[in-house]
Amino acid sequence: MTNLRTLFAATTALCAAGAASAAELEVTHWWTSGGEAAAVAELAKALNEKTEHKWVDGAIAGGGSTARPIMISRITGGDPMAATQFNHGRQAEELVEAGLMRDLTDVAEAGNWAEVINPPSLLESCTLDGRVYCAPLNIHSWQWLWLSHKAYETAGVPVPTTWDEFVAAAPKLQEAGITPMAMGKQGWQQSGAFNVMMISLLPKDVYMSVYQDKDAEVAAGPDVAKIFKAAADAREMAADSNVQDWNQATNMVITGQAGGQIMGDWAQGEFQVAGMTAGEDYTCLPGLGVNKTLQAGGDAFYFPVLDDEEKSAAQGDLAALLLEPEVQVAFNLKKGSLPVRGDVDLEAANDCMKKGLEILATGDSLPDVNQLISSDTRVQIEDLFVQFFADPSITPEDAQADFAEIIDDAD
Ligand code: BGC
Repeated sequence: MTNLRTLFAATTALCAAGAASAAELEVTHWWTSGGEAAAVAELAKALNEKTEHKWVDGAIAGGGSTARPIMISRITGGDPMAATQFNHGRQAEELVEAGLMRDLTDVAEAGNWAEVINPPSLLESCTLDGRVYCAPLNIHSWQWLWLSHKAYETAGVPVPTTWDEFVAAAPKLQEAGITPMAMGKQGWQQSGAFNVMMISLLPKDVYMSVYQDKDAEVAAGPDVAKIFKAAADAREMAADSNVQDWNQATNMVITGQAGGQIMGDWAQGEFQVAGMTAGEDYTCLPGLGVNKTLQAGGDAFYFPVLDDEEKSAAQGDLAALLLEPEVQVAFNLKKGSLPVRGDVDLEAANDCMKKGLEILATGDSLPDVNQLISSDTRVQIEDLFVQFFADPSITPEDAQADFAEIIDDAD
């Protein structure tokens, strides 16, 4: 009986995930840095080697804020790709509601996603009215300060262990001709760093009041005022950081041209490609050395509805493949992210990933901003920070007043 049941379960999984005939699948994503390219190559390899389908790579350069409008207009304009990356959360909400995304509930049930995906909030972000519309791929957190040992050695100051020490060390770095803080000039990076400061330097209910409850009074209040002051410090420390892309900023840390960078744990992939060792060549400080709470954000794959039965079946195969334990390990080790399955072996993880795993294991995680606010609100906040970082005459007080107004109107 047990054997029959196992056989039946295995056959069902195979029908849902392995019976499609060969198809070419175009996959769009914004993974174009060295570490990202190495990670996405693992997904392509798995699809090409483990199935009869072919991965057609559709990388879009310039980061998520550039890539997402292109992806969305292709889907709404009748030129859909077979699969596409979005962050966990609400970025594809309207596309799902418009019926433009393939229902993956068959694949999710065959793969027992409800049991294996951890934290469950990631599958919830894929679910609408009980149906599953995306495959969670990884867990990324934003709350990391990446520090260059070489830069601090040159300046003759110890590597900081907290945000305050990082700010206090800035003048010494400047004297040595080193940019204290590396930061790309894009709104998602600047607002991302601001949100990291909010979570890391304040009690975490402030973040939830602002982004989940959209409480404009809290957004205009004294706690958030401290974060705008910290953002003004960051603006000063990053004044000489003349780069656009996040990975160019990470490269400044890798080469010792900058002291540190606030960036998500995808930066880990760049240090890895550069052959650097955590703890020896660089330090990764979770929660700015203050509150070690991480957001459990990251990436999910969505599969636009296609008018082609074979491709549609092949989409199911790719969705199932992304959750396979070996694929999860191979991809996430290169990406610097953590697997979305609690049941995979991550022995090969480096020190930074182990720190992340330990923190997440305590259950101390918060939802990503993308899970809480609409894309429209997110874009308004990004625009505000582009202006704030470009123009030192904008006071923290004025920027905070604009921020509180956005939160007041937020959905
Ligand atoms: C994604 C990461 C990616 C990073 C930088 C984030 O939105 O979640 O996977 O590495 O952007 O491109």
